Amino acid sequence: MEKIAHGLEGVVVAGTHLSHVDGERGELIIGGFAVDELGPNATFEEVLYLLWHGRLPRRNEVDDLARALAAQRSLPPATLSFLRSAAERNLAPMDALRIAVGTLSLAVPQANGRRETQVALAQSLVARFPTIIAAYSRLLGGEAIVEPDARLGHVANYLYMLQGNRPDPDAVRALETYFNTVVDHGMNASTFAARVIISTRSDMVSALEGAIGALKGPLHGGAPGPALDMVFAIREHAASSGRIIEEEAEVWIRDALARDERLMGFGHRVYKVRDPRADVLGAAATKLFTGAGDRQLYTDARTVEKVALRLLREAKPERRLDTNVEYYTALLLHGIGLSTGLFSPTFAAARAGGWTAHILEQIKEDRIIRPSSAYIGENHPRWSPLEGRI
Ligand code: COA
Repeated sequence: MEKIAHGLEGVVVAGTHLSHVDGERGELIIGGFAVDELGPNATFEEVLYLLWHGRLPRRNEVDDLARALAAQRSLPPATLSFLRSAAERNLAPMDALRIAVGTLSLAVPQANGRRETQVALAQSLVARFPTIIAAYSRLLGGEAIVEPDARLGHVANYLYMLQGNRPDPDAVRALETYFNTVVDHGMNASTFAARVIISTRSDMVSALEGAIGALKGPLHGGAPGPALDMVFAIREHAASSGRIIEEEAEVWIRDALARDERLMGFGHRVYKVRDPRADVLGAAATKLFTGAGDRQLYTDARTVEKVALRLLREAKPERRLDTNVEYYTALLLHGIGLSTGLFSPTFAAARAGGWTAHILEQIKEDRIIRPSSAYIGENHPRWSPLEGRI
């Protein structure tokens, strides 16, 4: 029988110009730049241009892109009306985002085969992700929706629509670093889902809906909320037991591992060393927490991380489990003032840049993704009629 590549591990399904993940060396390259160069320095508009056009933009090019994105932020009435009924039912934010993105088919032009039209479509979709998430978050909180402000950049405007006041420049820089850092990451599950869908010559909205569905799972983009919950749970237990955080983390994590639970924010399919994105986000969090925010939470999270790494090594000595991007995502987004329910949707808003770039690449490749399976079921010699079955 053929060898089965469970989880497609190690299978190369596409050539890409977008990003490269070196799991052994702990390196990530996005559009030709190391993540620690790109993350803290670029604007998200520059990164989008880089991914969509394959090079850094000049001043007029990035200004044009920023204007085009800002002009397309508002939502069609059908999307807003869906978000209102979703909020009444308290639908999970990732589900609301997935369905709301589907409704954008009502607003955006249908792309024909020309690349410029497809890039324009990608722009009009990426432009609206933050508006959907912010509007839904405010509706869930019983607050009035904040209209987008075209004078603000993509990321600053997102924060403005979420929080309803002029965003603090340090918080904007931290969030922009986050967006740039997670915008693309090789052939991850949601990107693969998007590429599979568009490879059938389906449409971009359908591919994005599929990608959001894949990102939602806790083994992919759903981990940062639970990662922070672990730190909060350990802090709470420490407060009632009287132990210091380090001792409480030891007890809590040992128990979780004994129950065979996974620690959220640790381990990675590709990285066998520390996820380089964790360092970029860790540095951004250090900066942010030095300036403001809950400094103690940051210190406690670092203590919990240290204990978790030691206990993971002890519990699974044959595995190379290290801190992944989600751990510092949680800390950084919390420091910016985002609630845990917003973590995964915010990841989606950033990753939409990578998804659309991969969709454009796959459209160019124009070959349906259709792997094989090995049949391991029964082989009956004859059909058995209903009456004779036992
Ligand atoms: N905590 C505890 N044990 C873990 C672990 C974690 N976070 N991640 C992996 N392991 C263990 C598994 O239980 C398994 O142990 P076993 O061989 O004794 O059964 C072993 O390490 C390998 O796990 P496997 O599922 O083969 O790894 P993978 O490469 O398929 O999975 C992840 C990668 C990311 C899905 C996995 O590490 C995980 O679930 N992490 C937690 C969720 C998370 O942070 N996701 C965000 C990823 S960016």
